[in-house]
Amino acid sequence: MAVNVAVVGATGAVGEEFLRILESRKFPVKELRLLASKRSAGKKMRFCGRDYTVQELTKHSFEGIKIALFSAGASISREYVPYAIASGAVCVDNSSAFRMDDDVPLVVPEVNPQDIAKHHGVIANPNCSTIQMVVALKPIHDAARIKRIVVSTYQAVSGAGLKAIDELQKETASILSGQEGFRRNLFPHQIAFNVLPQIPQNNAFLPNGYTSEEMKMVSETKKILGDNSVRVTATTVRVPVIRSHSESINIETEKKISAAAVKKLLSTAPGVQVADDPANQLYPLATMATGRDEVFVGRIREDESLDHGINLWVVSDNVRKGAALNAIQIAEKLL
Ligand code: A2P
Repeated sequence: MAVNVAVVGATGAVGEEFLRILESRKFPVKELRLLASKRSAGKKMRFCGRDYTVQELTKHSFEGIKIALFSAGASISREYVPYAIASGAVCVDNSSAFRMDDDVPLVVPEVNPQDIAKHHGVIANPNCSTIQMVVALKPIHDAARIKRIVVSTYQAVSGAGLKAIDELQKETASILSGQEGFRRNLFPHQIAFNVLPQIPQNNAFLPNGYTSEEMKMVSETKKILGDNSVRVTATTVRVPVIRSHSESINIETEKKISAAAVKKLLSTAPGVQVADDPANQLYPLATMATGRDEVFVGRIREDESLDHGINLWVVSDNVRKGAALNAIQIAEKLL
């Protein structure tokens, strides 16, 4: 049965992807309401061969809406999700606003689809870096129990929105053409030809020295796996890539599991594509994952410094599986 769908943050990087994925997966949309800030009101966006006019988000925007997809940041979600719920909508929220609330399911459909049923009007979509990591690790956790995860990320600028893509492109062009006077708006340092160990770029470091992105990977992984005993430590890093996050993941397991067994397990795991043929220089790449739905896993090796350790290289499209696709998969399960 077709339903009325609202997209909050329709004009953003994730919002645009929501429209592409709703269309390509033939999500049963009856009425589509595109919502953004006042600045975008009146703008036209195309969906299924028709032009839709973007409307300003207000507390009255959700009348008649059954599914509301939010991706306009945590403060917008905090303010407007309650209005959407009061109007009778179920919200899938891509922000961090409600992720760690006890009564809000935090869901990756390949990992914990059973949690969707526990919702009270809002289901949280995890952080992009967490999603691709747990899709790759869940089958290993089930088979050998993961005791500890050490992850370092190489994250694309699209995770920081369309303005971040624009800044990388313009800064790169200005450096290459030798122009002076490029003004950064978003990143605290040059992002072109550089690597920044601070995500998000505008948040203060926490008292423990970590960033909020790093601590999200710690807490969200435990919640999604439903296992507080897994120890997680993360270093999250922005690289001058437009799209798709890469991750170096080291795990220590309770039971011994060989690299060959991990490869076999992952070759049939839902949402995973193994790309691991070093002899032919085949391994996951941002360019391979972009525009694709799968989480790509390769460079699967035993960690020779541990009795029960595995190293993996995991790449996925942060705007798709890391955000819009995961949210729409949740919405599909809701229907
Ligand atoms: P707008 O384009 O009108 O600013 P991104 O993450 O790519 O930067 O996108 C953020 C999304 O959130 C955009 O669609 C943006 O709309 C939307 N947004 C930002 N601030 C508001 C607001 N105050 N009310 C509604 N939508 C907002």
